[in-house]
Amino acid sequence: MPDPLTPYGNKPMVTPIVNAVNYRYASFDVLRRITNGEVDGYTYHRDDNPTVREVEKKIAIMEKAEDCIVCTSGMAACTLVYLTYLKAGDHLILFHDIYGAHYKVSLALERFGVKITWINADESQTIEQYITPETRMIFCETPSNPLCKVIDIRALSILSRKYGIKLVVDNTFATPYHQNPLDLGADLVVHSATKALGGHNDLMAGAIAGSKEDYDKLWFSRQAFGTTLDAYSASLLERGLKTFSLRAERMSENAHIIATYLSQHPAITNVRYPGLASDKGNKIASSQMVKGYGGMMAFDVGKSIDDARKFIGNLKVIHHAVSLGATESLICVPYLTTMLYMPPERRTSFGVKENTVRFSVGIEPVETIVDDLEQGLH
Ligand SMILES: Cc1ncc(COP(=O)(O)O)c(C=O)c1O
Repeated sequence: MPDPLTPYGNKPMVTPIVNAVNYRYASFDVLRRITNGEVDGYTYHRDDNPTVREVEKKIAIMEKAEDCIVCTSGMAACTLVYLTYLKAGDHLILFHDIYGAHYKVSLALERFGVKITWINADESQTIEQYITPETRMIFCETPSNPLCKVIDIRALSILSRKYGIKLVVDNTFATPYHQNPLDLGADLVVHSATKALGGHNDLMAGAIAGSKEDYDKLWFSRQAFGTTLDAYSASLLERGLKTFSLRAERMSENAHIIATYLSQHPAITNVRYPGLASDKGNKIASSQMVKGYGGMMAFDVGKSIDDARKFIGNLKVIHHAVSLGATESLICVPYLTTMLYMPPERRTSFGVKENTVRFSVGIEPVETIVDDLEQGLH
């Protein structure tokens, strides 16, 4: 019987959504070859899925990796990394400047006997003093969430190699359009694909790219933990990837113009955007980010949380919402959202203030965004 998807050899332009959870074995011999890893075959969705696999191959190319593992969310990807490479007694170095949910994961890791040192990204050049013989992993974000602090990936990778530590970089803010951490010496790159890779606020996914050896280890964990992405979300993600570079380019161009505008506005202070020449991270960002500085920024509005609330309440085009990297511009107060689950004093211990807002610039015409900011600040 001809394959219904490819009668006479015609192939679908779009990867089909394979919803099947299990597969009828062609023969015992095929089953043996699949389970031995001799051929790329499918047996059960938790192991692998053809729609998901296509997306993995595409993200691997984007991140210049040998392979990639896709899973159910960005936090699922981060947790998969921790649980695959850390054990009781190991030491993990984390940056305060990292997506807030890591704080909750860190509590679980500590319960399982992992020791954690938190450091401020502004002091990343002092990291060597925190390394112990038990240190197994350094996990960072650059630019960081929410303050867009920049960490020197090359410098960290030299240290990680010296001490045999795994360097993991969350590249969600930068995106692979602007930065490839593996090229700069990182061992693994992690993404919340929910953000710019997907790009349309309609799917949740995570990705981890690295070597073939890492792929095998992470695949083993994902298969066991059951965090394989569903085929429909994988298809949406693949669709998002088709326009990814166009969106990433536009967001970055818009963000540069907007950061320049905000840095001259009297109601705004502390604009943090790595593309501004005045930004503390500009020099390093310029050496490791290519084609621009991304679509994310943070800034302080007025003097109090009420000033930030009032400004956001006035906005008409920019959406008051969490998440980032979407086609629409999104703005939020990290103190009240992404950092909510940290103790209040911890939320403000590394530069974030109650009136700091995080801005994810969308692909709208830049004048539309600037006009909205202008009327919102008026
Ligand atoms: C930098 C970064 N990494 C990871 C995550 C977690 O991603 P997800 O929401 O897909 O679990 C987020 C979420 O906002 C994030 O901003």
